[in-house]
Amino acid sequence: MHLTVLTIFPELFGPFLATSLIGRARERGLLAIEVRDLRDATTDRHRVVDDEPYGGGGGMVMTAPPWIRAVREATAAAPAWRVLLSPQGRRLDDALVRELAARERLVLLCARYEGIDERVLETVVDEEVSIGDYVLSGGELPAMVLIEALSRQVPGVVQLASSVVRDSFRSGLLDHPHYTRPPVVEGREVPPVLLSGNHAEIERWRELAAVRATWRKRPDLLAVAELTAAQRRELERLGRECGDGLARRPKDRG
Ligand code: ADE
Repeated sequence: MHLTVLTIFPELFGPFLATSLIGRARERGLLAIEVRDLRDATTDRHRVVDDEPYGGGGGMVMTAPPWIRAVREATAAAPAWRVLLSPQGRRLDDALVRELAARERLVLLCARYEGIDERVLETVVDEEVSIGDYVLSGGELPAMVLIEALSRQVPGVVQLASSVVRDSFRSGLLDHPHYTRPPVVEGREVPPVLLSGNHAEIERWRELAAVRATWRKRPDLLAVAELTAAQRRELERLGRECGDGLARRPKDRG
């Protein structure tokens, strides 16, 4: 996968792209990520990228020509899917991450959020993507969120492919709880089945624990989740045992 990031703050990406899974993936040639300074596509001495809005009003608007030039330069050698990070975009979720990960080359446009001339969208943007219904000051953090989610889809980036498949949302369910040493923390023990060494039992426990976690934390997901027969039975049991709203949050009781 090849990503080009266009931003006026390239320095924000340095440690992020050099660290942990993404740093290793880049070293191993699994991911190519290039960060370009939008100001390099300006033509004036002061490298200006914004101007006052036509029609008046507060704030500044990012001007179209540097963006158009920068995107065209970034796609001159090979075409790419061009994504503008914006709160007006399609909300990022697992399905969209997988759609975008299927593309070989992406250009990510990180605008500062006072606004960007509409003609950038009309000429050099294929899709707008939002990371949630709130406004950040720019697209840089959303781009990092997207890059991290995308990189996990690239074969070989995450060592254990099963942990990607098991990730929350792949099946439409949240992940099951995890435990590691020590065996007792603040008087709380690890579920005994996890110490049993019986892998089939452990797998079954995890399957049902995922349903219980989803029921408790994100019951809205259960409407469309793909459930096994055992998971459906567990859901019915939860419904019978604690059908009231309070029971969905047992930690709130007592
Ligand atoms: N830029 C500013 N806010 C954003 C958001 N919520 N998602 C994507 N890009 C943004």
